[in-house]
Amino acid sequence: MHLQPKQGVQQIQDLPGMMRGEFRGFATSPVAGVRFVERLDALGAIHTPDCAAVIWLRPDEAPLYQWLANLSAVHLPQIREILRSDTIRSAMKRIVADMPDDPERAMFVQSISVLAEKFADVMRAPWLRLRLEVVTGDACRKFHVDNVTARLVCTYRGTGTQYGLAPRGAEPEVVDTVPTGQPIVLRGMRWPTTPPSLLKHRSPPIAGTGETRLLLVLDPILDPEDEV
Ligand SMILES: [Fe+2]
Repeated sequence: MHLQPKQGVQQIQDLPGMMRGEFRGFATSPVAGVRFVERLDALGAIHTPDCAAVIWLRPDEAPLYQWLANLSAVHLPQIREILRSDTIRSAMKRIVADMPDDPERAMFVQSISVLAEKFADVMRAPWLRLRLEVVTGDACRKFHVDNVTARLVCTYRGTGTQYGLAPRGAEPEVVDTVPTGQPIVLRGMRWPTTPPSLLKHRSPPIAGTGETRLLLVLDPILDPEDEV
């Protein structure tokens, strides 16, 4: 089915299999598009004009998500490290060493490694800051744009990142949620070109629900000595 753009609405549907990319337009034409891609190789779409974010419609890794969902929270890895991009895979094997030695553990290493390697390639980053966070509260509940050039976020367990368009100082009226396991690359405040992105995101509010999320966050690092 071909969707006709509505008045005042911008659609980006130039890739096959596009699910949806519908957002309110702005008079000043800020960067506001979300692009959905079917192949990991297409993550570089973040460099195209008017692309504020790219979501990879990754083939389902249901056994991995089910395994992670069933694990006790004490087995979920928490880490924050700056790693050379070509050492991500070996680092991941070390990072998951305390997780149960099931076949899904190798899937988890593979899932993050291919993502990190491609993201580093797309951002031409010799280093990456890799974070795995176990989240049970409302951290980053306020809609914001990150103070980085770009960031990859992937929720491996629990509710995914929420996003929407809003002018400066405002909250999005329409909010979407990235499905669990689907990575999103977001332009940040330090993206080198203008105009700025109007796409804001936040962690979903889960405090009091008993939900435990597992979040992967990757930031490109050009020189680790510049990082505190
Ligand atoms: Fe953020």
